Amino acid sequence: MIKITYHGHSAVEIKTEKHNILIDPFITGNKHARIKHSDLKADFIVLTHGHEDHVGDTVEIAKRTNATVIAVHELSNLMISNGLNSHGMGIGGSRQFPFGTVKYTIAHHSSSYSGVYTGNPAGVIITASGKTIYHAGDTCLFLDMKLIGEMHSIDLAFLPIGDNYTMGIDDAVKAVEFLNCKIAVPVHFGTFDVIDTDPNEFKRKVESIGRKCEVIPFGGELTI
Ligand code: NI
Ligand code: MN
Repeated sequence: MIKITYHGHSAVEIKTEKHNILIDPFITGNKHARIKHSDLKADFIVLTHGHEDHVGDTVEIAKRTNATVIAVHELSNLMISNGLNSHGMGIGGSRQFPFGTVKYTIAHHSSSYSGVYTGNPAGVIITASGKTIYHAGDTCLFLDMKLIGEMHSIDLAFLPIGDNYTMGIDDAVKAVEFLNCKIAVPVHFGTFDVIDTDPNEFKRKVESIGRKCEVIPFGGELTI
């Protein structure tokens, strides 16, 4: 069993029986966050790419909690240069951690932090407590999502729907079909004006193709 908390934007907290894992903990400056970064617990922080709205409060949280930051090699090196514990990985690579397995997948986007190159952007597949969660990061729709869905039985997929920087609603609905995921959860919407969109429209469209969607309220939880 896994408990998921959605902190708005792409920030997701995954709680297993023993571990707290944060993905893209952008809290400060995230108008939908209902928590302060100083209240978050973390054993591991998983980053999809270097953009400020994904790295977010990683440095502060990891310094306070001593969490290990898992990221693509170049971004991992940047975290190490900030004094953090970090484990670098590459696209297609997977590794076992105390809470479960992390595998990096492709994402079509860009990746830099304050103008510094931070390697390729990515998605992540986390398998823990018998559940498989895919967080697409920031990406467009791509046909290889079919391959990701073939190789992994995805229980839950976090998909960006806000358009402009990533997939919009219609492309994200196609992604649900490609991934063959049991539950789709929309992320990366409404935080800024340019990515304002209606997650319930996504839900309706996902349901119209016979799939399940959960719109997790900001600060809300979902147990799978
Ligand atoms: Ni981005
Ligand atoms: Mn983003």
